[in-house]
Amino acid sequence: MPLVTLAEVLQEADAKGYAVGAFNCNNMEIVQAIIGAAEAEGAPVIIQASQGAIKYAGLQYITSLVRTAAAGTRVPVVLHLDHGTDFEQVLRCLRAGFTSVMIDGSKYPLEENIALTRQVVEIAHAIGASVEGELGRIGGTEDHVSVSEREATMTVPEEAARFVAETGVDALAVAIGTAHGRYKGKPQLDFERLAAIDGLINTPIVLHGSSGVPDEDIRRAVALGVRKINIDTDIRIVFVEAMRRALADNPEEIDPRKVLGPARDAATSVIRHKMRVFGSAGRLHNSIPG
Ligand code: G3H
Ligand code: 13P
Ligand code: ZN
Repeated sequence: MPLVTLAEVLQEADAKGYAVGAFNCNNMEIVQAIIGAAEAEGAPVIIQASQGAIKYAGLQYITSLVRTAAAGTRVPVVLHLDHGTDFEQVLRCLRAGFTSVMIDGSKYPLEENIALTRQVVEIAHAIGASVEGELGRIGGTEDHVSVSEREATMTVPEEAARFVAETGVDALAVAIGTAHGRYKGKPQLDFERLAAIDGLINTPIVLHGSSGVPDEDIRRAVALGVRKINIDTDIRIVFVEAMRRALADNPEEIDPRKVLGPARDAATSVIRHKMRVFGSAGRLHNSIPG
């Protein structure tokens, strides 16, 4: 079926109380792993590309890969720009056929973030695409921040209410204690803050930096209103580990398919598990008709 928008899949998820996985892709094998998992689990899915992924693979390659994947399946697929920070890149993605973009204005003061995000919403909505905004700062696990610094970067619920009202975003990424990359210890999520945000807004909430967050914490976040869950690092880990294993088992191997095939399979397994935890597995029959 043709690509669908983020608003469409998140509306359905919100009505039924589950979250849709948003998985980062960088190459054909990862796109195939994501779509293979979605088909095996009967789950709607968001395939997202960061600006870095687009720089690596090329905008047309990413768009063509995901369009091809979507065209051959009845699973609803969204093609989403992850952490767009460059206004012109956002426009290029929309023109190329992305059905959703994130504009990450979180490094700006609130007023500027609102103004930038609103501008993207006006353009994207005019052509039927969706927009995710970010409020609060979601850093990396490598950032050395104190507890008080971490608190200061978290999303303020009242500001979230103002942000969604003034921008009209279709989804809001919040900072509640997760970070991008591999956690050293157990991430500490601020569930009270999440509940407070959910109580003040009707817009679907997005959780970034979700790799390495224990399954029970993910389930709790979904119960508190998270509807889009971003996963990149957990795919990277199993993908590259499988490649390392394949090469270690057969150091003379020169066929890339023998190295990338197992990596694709390993990624499929981890994505299938995430879909079951998010509650998106088995929702296909309830989804947007194809
Ligand atoms: O949020 C960050 C994503 O994991 C994408 O990372 O910019 O290295 O592609 P990247
Ligand atoms: P992880 O790499 O920590 O899973 O974060 C992914 C993400 O938030 C992409 O925007
Ligand atoms: Zn992110």
